Amino acid sequence: MDQFLGVSQFLYLFFNVVVIVLSLMFLKLFKRCWISPVRAQTKLRQNGFVGPATSFPLGNFNDIKKLKIALVMAEKRKSSTIINHDIHSIALPHFALWQQQYGKVFVHWLGIEPFVYVADPEFLSVMSKGVLAKSWGKPNVFKKDREPMFGNGLVMVEGDDWTRHRHMITPAFSPLNLKGMANMMVESTTNMLDRWAIQINSGNPVFDMEEEIIVTAGEISAKTSFGVTGENATQFLKNLRAMQLALFHSHRYVGVPFSGILDFKQTLEAKGLGKEIDSLLLSIINERKRSLVEGDDHHDLLGSLLKAEKGEFTATELVDECKTFFFAGVETAALALTWTFMLLAIHPKWQDTLRDEIRQVIGDSEIEYKKLAGLKKMSWVMNEVLRLYPSAPNAQRQARRDIEVNGRVIPNGTNIWIDVVAMHHDVDLWGDDVNEFKPERFDGDLHGGCKNKMGFMPFGFGGRMCIGRNMAFMEYKILFSLVLSRFEISFSPGYRHSPKHVFSLRPGYDLPLIVRAL
Ligand code: HEM
Ligand SMILES: *[C@@H]1O[C@H](CO)[C@@H](O)[C@H](O)[C@H]1NC(C)=O
Ligand SMILES: *[C@@H]1O[C@H](CO)[C@@H](O)[C@H](O)[C@H]1NC(C)=O
Repeated sequence: MDQFLGVSQFLYLFFNVVVIVLSLMFLKLFKRCWISPVRAQTKLRQNGFVGPATSFPLGNFNDIKKLKIALVMAEKRKSSTIINHDIHSIALPHFALWQQQYGKVFVHWLGIEPFVYVADPEFLSVMSKGVLAKSWGKPNVFKKDREPMFGNGLVMVEGDDWTRHRHMITPAFSPLNLKGMANMMVESTTNMLDRWAIQINSGNPVFDMEEEIIVTAGEISAKTSFGVTGENATQFLKNLRAMQLALFHSHRYVGVPFSGILDFKQTLEAKGLGKEIDSLLLSIINERKRSLVEGDDHHDLLGSLLKAEKGEFTATELVDECKTFFFAGVETAALALTWTFMLLAIHPKWQDTLRDEIRQVIGDSEIEYKKLAGLKKMSWVMNEVLRLYPSAPNAQRQARRDIEVNGRVIPNGTNIWIDVVAMHHDVDLWGDDVNEFKPERFDGDLHGGCKNKMGFMPFGFGGRMCIGRNMAFMEYKILFSLVLSRFEISFSPGYRHSPKHVFSLRPGYDLPLIVRAL
């Protein structure tokens, strides 16, 4: 044989290598998009987890899309202004339909990702008993998709890193620290109410309440999270909303292979917005680190975090935690407030009840943190609103090992989708008045009389329960104490009730309300 390769031999060899590499890539892809999902499906079936027929690589996407479109058409036909709180089939038509066919635990697919759907609190409690909070995963597909919003902050981080982060962040939400935030919340709310008074005086008493509240909640979050006010706070809120438009409003194919190419424009846009936020936060953090040396007295979450972590967090970790505070806190709180405005407008008696309570507990004095605990009925109202309209309509996990539930195995890698809306509206758990607004069901009962404690979970479950829930109660109580002391809310005929699931559970149309000064 000749010692040197001729040009043609070289090309021949090169060609072969290319073919082999391409085949290997194709095989790998084939395995990921086809063999692995089919294998997962077989395993799930063997363990008795079935669900709607699916196809790869789209999963159940087209079914979901079709059901939602059918619903929109049906909704357009009826021009109902009746407000019905039985919203599961309106907000999540595909789950309502599949539940009828497959029960409260079944499998559905987002692209090539299997999701065990759970709307049975008994199943949930058995499932979560055997798994430590740090051993749960958060679905990789969402982690990747929502990276611009949460990065690897507390909502998404797993394992020992989660333990470390949770431990370090917990003191930031201590009563002592929350106490220092009360003034910031009072200030933003008062500004909003002063604006209302001016607008009412000028003869226009109708407000788009969702818009009013998100602006104020955004201001409060920016201030309490990292001490940002004014224009910079507005910029955060703008970015949040643009990011939501990019990530959640269009029909995106999360879980479908190469969906990044299909949703190229939105993915790129969200990434860009995320980078903008990162660099803004980085400059804030660096500035704060410098001022910390000189004795900083900021009472916001970043301030406490910087004092506690003593240089243990990397810059990226700090940025991710800051954006997590903002993104996890703004919209959930804003929607709880917004839905409460709607419900109080329908139930003026509850406005009076709360007004009496506010008068007794707070009276004419200034709002202080330690007095807020006395607003018991207001807590019932908040719980009842979060039951009927949970701003976080689902909780998600991913199994990081095989998990056994009553002898059935959920295989490693399977995602879990907990339908909070379904459990909160389940007549079997709550009784015949399940779809009525009855805050008194929480009188003396933290779970509102639900037959299973896990049937009521507006803040999630287990060790990963919302770290900001006391702060959320505080914001809620401060805002409504101030609002109800000055104003009365009533319905505007223009409202159309159509709760939608777009990441959170939100009004499908505006929420116009009439505000009258007392
Ligand atoms: C009414 C308002 C709120 C609601 C309904 C709510 C709801 C939730 C839910 C359902 C979870 C997921 C729990 C799970 O997966 O089991 C969660 C986690 C979380 N929330 Fe909230 N939240 C609210 C307000 C806030 C606020 C004001 C903040 C912070 C400023 C916050 C920060 C977080 C964080 C950091 C996590 C992740 C906790 C972890 O995984 O360790 N939330 N929240
Ligand atoms: C906004 O943030 C930038 C960068 O940290 C800062 O220089 C500027 O003063 C801030 N503006 C306001 C109104 O706080
Ligand atoms: C679960 O699956 C992942 C990814 O395939 C793997 O890295 C991990 O080791 C598995 N865990 C266990 C306990 O088998």
